[in-house]
Amino acid sequence: MKRHLMRAVILVLILAGGLGYLVYTGFEVFVPPLASQEGTRIDQLLRFQFFLIAAIFSLVVGLAVYAVLVFRRRGDEEEAGEYIHGNPTLEITWTVIPLLIVLGLSAVTTRDFFWMRRPDYDMVVKVTGQQCAWIFEYPDYGIKSAELVVPTGKRIKFELQSVDVIHSFWVPEWRVKEDLVPGLTTYVYITPTQEGEFKLRCAELCGVGHATMRAPVRVVSSEAFEAWVAEQMPPADPVALGEKLVSQYCASCHSLDGSQRVGPTFLGIFGREVTFTDGTTATVDEDYIRESIREPQAKVVEGFQPIMPPFGPDRLSDEEVDAIIAFLKTLEK
Ligand code: CUA
Repeated sequence: MKRHLMRAVILVLILAGGLGYLVYTGFEVFVPPLASQEGTRIDQLLRFQFFLIAAIFSLVVGLAVYAVLVFRRRGDEEEAGEYIHGNPTLEITWTVIPLLIVLGLSAVTTRDFFWMRRPDYDMVVKVTGQQCAWIFEYPDYGIKSAELVVPTGKRIKFELQSVDVIHSFWVPEWRVKEDLVPGLTTYVYITPTQEGEFKLRCAELCGVGHATMRAPVRVVSSEAFEAWVAEQMPPADPVALGEKLVSQYCASCHSLDGSQRVGPTFLGIFGREVTFTDGTTATVDEDYIRESIREPQAKVVEGFQPIMPPFGPDRLSDEEVDAIIAFLKTLEK
């Protein structure tokens, strides 16, 4: 018995050592490089859990494999093995140890959760999600952008709102993920630690545009951030303003080059003859564009899904709509 136990323990240790080494060296293969302060705790927990899983897996599989190989029925052995009815010591041990592990993990997780969500921050970015696009607003600077630009070393409070359905804000390198829920403002705090270019992905299957619902993220130095803010002030020229607004609000669903996306292309849109889903036709003019921005469901072009959210005056002013029209007029075929 002693001999079997010794051998089984050695097998388990070898297995655990090998898997532990794989976890140690393979962590960077499984997860993208860490780029936020909040993520350090997540990586610690994740690493620890990987080691724990490797150890438990080795114990269970090691003992099982040993028993299957060594205690298998050989040749013409006929008699059944010894009948054992329970073993209280063993049963209490394998109940209490996992219980302590799970309680310990939940204590550490709770501590880290509240640490990550502690309400101190250096700046606010409002994030609006809608089918196909992300929009970022910097209330401290009065600017809006389709690209998320943030400085390193500042703890940022992202206030998340959805116009239509549930989306999810996720930059894998920052680790933390948070849903955008219609009717609620949710939030997440991030302190970027690495400069570079990342990608914000929508991590909630949200409809036709889900796969394209990505936004570029640039993490820059404080100086570069200030320079970027200075560049973002809205242009005075209507066509330039319109171009900027179209790239912010429309371009992920409406192409400018003639290719068809979730919505009709904007190339050559003025004067185009269109057929609607109810069979009626019209020629695209200023009034039609204005109506399609304010009330997109009023006339839906044949062959497209009625998924565009309405843009009321709270989201685009009349001047901004005029600027968009001025820009669309320049997109002749
Ligand atoms: Cu938004 Cu998926």
